[in-house]
Amino acid sequence: MELVADISSLRARLRHESSIAFVPTMGNLHEGHLSLVRLAQQEADFVVVGIFVNRLQFAPGEDFDRYPRTLIDDCKLLENLGAVDMVFAPGEKDLYPVPQEFMLELPPVAHILEGEFRPGFFRGVATVVLKLLNIVQPQAAIFGKKDFQQLHIMRELVRQLNLPVEIVAGETVRAPDNLASSSRNRYLTTEERTESTRLYQVLLQVKQAIENGNRNFHGLEENAKKLLREHHWKTDYVAVRHRDTLDPSCKEDENLVILGAARLGKTRLIDNLEISIKN
Ligand code: PAJ
Repeated sequence: MELVADISSLRARLRHESSIAFVPTMGNLHEGHLSLVRLAQQEADFVVVGIFVNRLQFAPGEDFDRYPRTLIDDCKLLENLGAVDMVFAPGEKDLYPVPQEFMLELPPVAHILEGEFRPGFFRGVATVVLKLLNIVQPQAAIFGKKDFQQLHIMRELVRQLNLPVEIVAGETVRAPDNLASSSRNRYLTTEERTESTRLYQVLLQVKQAIENGNRNFHGLEENAKKLLREHHWKTDYVAVRHRDTLDPSCKEDENLVILGAARLGKTRLIDNLEISIKN
């Protein structure tokens, strides 16, 4: 496994590779990331994992400075996995040698849900992912369903800008108690870690109610937020959406997704569950 930081070395090394799968991450790798690496291995002969904490997608006051940077441990994990050919871990000056003035203008779907509560977030994500795809030029790029809206926007980015890459989705990996794996889970205190599974449980209750025939989506959303509030969460949103568009669902939709984002103490957690129903 090679560790590469600068773009020209990477390009020279990848020039003769025709089948590349790429897993972009911000590092501090956990089982969720590793599951994407395993998927990448099935997609192509040469697997590149990107590790870069992208300043552009953090708003002032967010956790850019304290975001865990654990490159040495990450490389050990990937080496042990045995599935990775290259780690691309550029420095700030490699990716942003000059201030990034060209930025993407994003569609309306990037301004709802996460986009409403983290203005500029998807603009930063889309811009860095477009740069990374241009640098690595993979045939497949792997994203997790854990960040369901991000995955959706990556698909639209590739479709609307005609990028020659296939977006492959990985299922959400969870701890045994169903908390979705996330680099931010390490911010949780012991007590918060116990409480943290409530977000999943509340989404699961909404899913089960819908599967049992309840179509009062608004009522279900409000009830979920109330439950979280009662346990001292600060909820940004709980929303039942059409799975393929992320538009508000209507009663006839068969493919839905319930998305939630809420803060527990200083930690912001997100999760989602897909729902398929037969009307
Ligand atoms: P990061 O949060 O490190 O996540 C990297 C990839 O891992 C994303 O595609 C994310 O959806 C996936 N992932 C995270 N937790 C997961 C879990 N529990 N199960 C399955 N997949 C999981 O997302 C980013 O970084 C950045 O926004 C990035 C795309 C790298 C752009 O900077």
